Amino acid sequence: MPCRPRICPNPGDERINLDLGTTLIRIDNIRRYPPREPFDPLSNSPGDDDGHIARTLMRPIMRMLVNGALRLFDFPGFKKLFPPKLPRVVQVSVPIPGLPSTLDKTRLVHLSDIHYCRELGPGFLQQAITRTMSLSPGFIAITGDMLHRDMEPIQELGQVLSKIAKRIDTYAVLGNHDLQVDPLCSRLPRVLKQAGIKLLINESVGVKINGSRLYIVGIDDLWEGDADIQKALGCVPKGSPYILLSHNPDIVDMLETVENKPLLVLSGHTHGGQISLPVLGPPMVPSIAGKRRCHGLIREKHTWLHITSGIGMVEPLVRFRVDPEISLLTLEKAVVSPHQQAG
Ligand SMILES: [Fe+2]
Repeated sequence: MPCRPRICPNPGDERINLDLGTTLIRIDNIRRYPPREPFDPLSNSPGDDDGHIARTLMRPIMRMLVNGALRLFDFPGFKKLFPPKLPRVVQVSVPIPGLPSTLDKTRLVHLSDIHYCRELGPGFLQQAITRTMSLSPGFIAITGDMLHRDMEPIQELGQVLSKIAKRIDTYAVLGNHDLQVDPLCSRLPRVLKQAGIKLLINESVGVKINGSRLYIVGIDDLWEGDADIQKALGCVPKGSPYILLSHNPDIVDMLETVENKPLLVLSGHTHGGQISLPVLGPPMVPSIAGKRRCHGLIREKHTWLHITSGIGMVEPLVRFRVDPEISLLTLEKAVVSPHQQAG
């Protein structure tokens, strides 16, 4: 297992509490202190920005209001009103110029954010898996957050996932919750391997489709792992087509320096917002691009990005106007008109 040793932030305490409110604070910190931009003393400092003080004062108030609104969803009565829904199947066509003809019409299922826990009920994941198998895709990609808050149900998770992996090639990456629950990667990778799932941590695998080789590249989590895109692409021959799996959609900002761009990036993490308030929409999207990287097929500067709303939930364990989903993607060779080529 290529997983390097991880530092356990709180050994002995496997239970974690990453809810929407905590994530809001996290993403707010990332916005304020972007990790990859060095401080430039000549640029506008916070003191030069007239709006900075107002924004600084407004942040805690906004955070309090949003957290207050989210607490409403914590009431047991509310949860009874909105019991976990079975994921619906969403079909998405991805038009890709220059796609090799042999890869045209390749079908794959994109699953994410199972957040497996007792509250979902024992049959919930089983039904989602049965629904996935009925689609008979070429392969399945799981983009992280398979675990939720503890490792208690990990064997059960492995048993259910093994049913699908025995029949259909299945690839996975880890998400921030997986690494919070299993920071030393001591159990989850082993359980996934036993289930027949190929876990990709900054590595790739070639898949033969109609005589062509399509690479599946998996990257470690951007928040809790050690994402290394150059290492992940190390075994992908120059110019070869590949699909990048990354739990966190903000990985697309790291593609600037990559010469061979992916056909498609598959991500989860946002849960489609999980809660979408009337008029306002999702109060929180854990991406530095905010609502622009919330859900669906998005054209980014260098590639297509598909973000699925996923299957499970974080606290409060309620979805409101954002359904869970199983995404069935079809790669399609896009025809580029002479006019577009000239442009
Ligand atoms: Fe998640």
